[in-house]
Amino acid sequence: MANVLSHAFASDNAAPAHPKVIDAIAAANAGAVASYGNDPATQRAAEVIRASFDSPDAEVLFALTGTAANVIALASAVRPWHEILCSDVAHSLVDEAGGPVRLSGAQLTQLPSDNGLIDPSVLDTAVSRRGPVHHSQPRIVTITQSTENGRVWTPQAVKDFVDHAHDLDLLVHVDGSRIANAIAALDVSPREAIADADIVTVGGTKNGMLMGDAILVRRPELFDGIHFVQKQIGQLASKQRFVAAQFEAMLHDGLWLRTATHANRMATRLSAGLSALGLTLSCPTEANEVFVDLEPATYDVVSASYAVHRPDPLRPAVRFVCSWATTEAEVDQVLELLASVST
Ligand SMILES: Cc1ncc(COP(=O)(O)O)c(C=O)c1O
Repeated sequence: MANVLSHAFASDNAAPAHPKVIDAIAAANAGAVASYGNDPATQRAAEVIRASFDSPDAEVLFALTGTAANVIALASAVRPWHEILCSDVAHSLVDEAGGPVRLSGAQLTQLPSDNGLIDPSVLDTAVSRRGPVHHSQPRIVTITQSTENGRVWTPQAVKDFVDHAHDLDLLVHVDGSRIANAIAALDVSPREAIADADIVTVGGTKNGMLMGDAILVRRPELFDGIHFVQKQIGQLASKQRFVAAQFEAMLHDGLWLRTATHANRMATRLSAGLSALGLTLSCPTEANEVFVDLEPATYDVVSASYAVHRPDPLRPAVRFVCSWATTEAEVDQVLELLASVST
């Protein structure tokens, strides 16, 4: 019989939706309400997101995917002669099929990073060609919390970075597709995890929702037209109450941080187990993603049983992602498989 690949560690997108999210969708499925976000659930969800991030003046929009949320945020910040800055591993750069460039017309420029963490001084070089009409003009920098490689910006690091960007007249977007994992890992307030960023993608899908990410627009005056961008790219859901109800269920009593804490704990368990087997982590485990270097033969055994992402096609290193639904038994099972190959 053909081996059935386990998707337990393929991605937090592979996880099921949390039962409380499904309950919230069912509860929202009553009667006719206003469409396109003019419904009570949308108002409540926006309020709980604003309150969670201590951003009373923010506007909140919803999108169906994280890519869409990022594209809407970035495209509404720039004009076609602008430049969007991002890390060399940014999802916006590597995994959005050029969406931010296509939808904004702006140039996307990668900055060197340590697994997605960018040193603020890098921005000085990035803005040094600003001015002459020959160059795209740096306008916004996007960072990811937690990063694509599972690193977490500490509150001080993110504050220093955002403050420096602002000093250089750059706006800051945070791709918070895994913001809850970062907040839980740091054990700080949501606001501390984003510092004074201007606009934030607040992830929902990876953290237990059926689907949906939010956009927290902390300085609406700088993102003129964002509602039109959202509409143009088909991300203003007519039945938005069902996306909003999920966010309300996740955030109103802290469920989003409990699910993220669990995912992080499973990643810590996996990471410790891999290290105990003598395997080398490709980068530190700080949230819910674990990256490990494998020998080619070990890689073949793992990939015969598990669907795992291989960030660099040229290296047999893999990424394991833990989710709210990952169990200790699943972690121990993959460790047992690796122990059997390593011995
Ligand atoms: C860091 C990061 N940002 C954004 C996204 C986009 O999410 P989606 O797949 O929902 O478009 C992902 C998805 O993997 C991601 O890892």
